[in-house]
Order: sequence, then C-alpha cells, then structure tokens
Amino acid sequence: MPPALQLLLAAQAPMAAPAQQPPQAPGWLTESEAARLAGMQHPARRQEFIACRYALRHLLAMAHGTTADHWRLDAPEGRAPHLNAQHHGEEAAGSTHLSLSHSGAWLACAAAPHPVGIDLEVKDLHASRRDVLALAGMACTPGELAQLQALDDGPARQRHFLQIWSLKEAYFKCTGTGVDFAAIRRIECRPAGLPIQGEVLAHARAWHGATAGGHAVLLSVCVLGAGGLLPCSLQVDADIAWQGEGDWCLVALPG
Ligand SMILES: CC(C)(COP(=O)(O)OP(=O)(O)OC[C@H]1O[C@@H](n2cnc3c(N)ncnc32)[C@H](O)[C@@H]1OP(=O)(O)O)[C@@H](O)C(=O)NCCC(=O)NCCS
Repeated sequence: MPPALQLLLAAQAPMAAPAQQPPQAPGWLTESEAARLAGMQHPARRQEFIACRYALRHLLAMAHGTTADHWRLDAPEGRAPHLNAQHHGEEAAGSTHLSLSHSGAWLACAAAPHPVGIDLEVKDLHASRRDVLALAGMACTPGELAQLQALDDGPARQRHFLQIWSLKEAYFKCTGTGVDFAAIRRIECRPAGLPIQGEVLAHARAWHGATAGGHAVLLSVCVLGAGGLLPCSLQVDADIAWQGEGDWCLVALPG
C-alpha cells in the first residue's frame, strides 16, 4: 500500500525530454491535454506543460507499480488535473486527487486519496525587489503582517512572506477555488503544535532549501480538515539542498 500522500519535485527539462516530440503533441496526451497544449505558443510554456503532465503520470506509476502510459489524465483550464473517468472509472477518478505547481525550471506534483494542494516557489531572494509589505497587505492577516514587519527588509522577510504565500496557495488549490482574495486575509498560517484558537481549516507541511544556483526553494503541501496530515512520501529528482521542514495549520480567524 503506497503512503497516502505522494509527492514529486523535479527539474522540468529531464522530465520533458523523454516525453516530448516537438512540434506535435506527444501521443500519450489525452484530448483535453492536447487541446490546452494547442493553445500554448511559447516553447517554454509548452515544455513546462508537457513536463508536468508526464511528472503526474510518473508519480502515479511509482505509487501503483504501473507504467506511466497506464494513466490518462484530464487538464481542465483553471482547475486541478484529474484522472480520466472514462478510462479509469468514476470510483478511481473520484478517489484520486492530483495537484501540480511549476516555478522557474522546476515542477512539483502530488497525488492523494483526499483533496490536496501543492505549491512550489523557486526564487532568487537576494535579487528580488518586491515590496513584501505591500503584497502582505493583500494576502496576510494582521498577525502575519506584524511578523513580517519585525524582520529586516531583505531576504529573511522575502522568505517568510514566500512561506506564508506558498502555504495559502496550496490551501486554495485544495479547495479548488484558486486564490480567494476576499478570504485570504482571514486565514492564518500557524506552526503546528502550538495551542490553536479558531477553526482549523487545513494541515500542511513545508520544506525549504536551495538550488545549486543559490535560489530559495519552498515546497508546500496541504490537505483539508482538522484531521492532520496524511503519511507523506516526497521524491526529489532535482539538485536541491534541503535546509528544513515543518508542519503547519491553516486557521480561520473569527469575524
Ligand atoms: C490557480 C493558482 C493558485 C495557480 O497558482 P500559480 O502560482 O499561478 O501557478 P502554479 O504553478 O503554482 O499552479 C498552476 C497549476 O495549478 C492548477 N490549478 C489551476 N487552477 C486551479 C484551481 N482552481 N484549483 C486547483 N488547482 C488549480 C493547474 O494544474 C495549474 O497548472 P497548469 O496551468 O499547467 O495546468 C492561481 O493562479 C490562482 O489562484 N488563480 C485564480 C485566482 C486569480 O486569478 N487570482 C489572481 C487575481 S490578482
């Protein structure tokens, strides 16, 4: 029996290379995937799309001991990918939840028996000139904003904001709504294990590290509900030096 939460982080290029036959779509794409690919003009976006679809199949194949071409997936625009119900049956499609994320030259994907959201952020924090406090004003609770204000204006503040943002993106992928700016400032990320007041919406785990080129890597995975995180298996097909991991709760603030 595979662990309940299967995760893969990989570089896009090697994942796309064996699968890609430009300029045509690879034969293993389903109709809905091929239709989305046909609407993509930019070669890098096409490669990213193909790499992610192949990575999902690779993840499912590893978890279930099949070949990658066993899996047929649909790719609705603005929604998470899912198993093709005609090919795999309604029951399997309804009980296999998928999520994916891409950032720079990297991708991450997840498969689970419950709704799951994954988010990957790969950024050069030293080069970033983003006004973190302005972004935080749109995405953070007052408590999170105070944490950011207490940090020096530099990589540490950028990293902490990226951590909060990544956890919330993973949460909104779980719910399927995409980022909800009407709700996001009332949802707070709290380290797991501390006493919690308020409704626990979701549990998450986050890993942080760095690429060989020195870019920060933040990977977050989230599952809904107060029941806690499922057992988790993370495979990394990428040159990343991990620096730590932690468990989080996403809590709804009252009001
Ligand atoms: C969906 C969303 C969270 C994706 O985040 P992102 O940082 O742009 O991109 P990521 O690489 O992390 O994730 C992209 C993948 O998320 C998945 N996805 C898209 N919409 C999704 C949804 N509603 N629920 C779950 N997953 C979704 C797709 O698989 C997508 O990959 P694909 O386009 O290659 O198929 C984000 O774009 C969003 O919230 N959009 C809707 C709200 C919005 O437009 N807000 C902007 C207002 S300023």
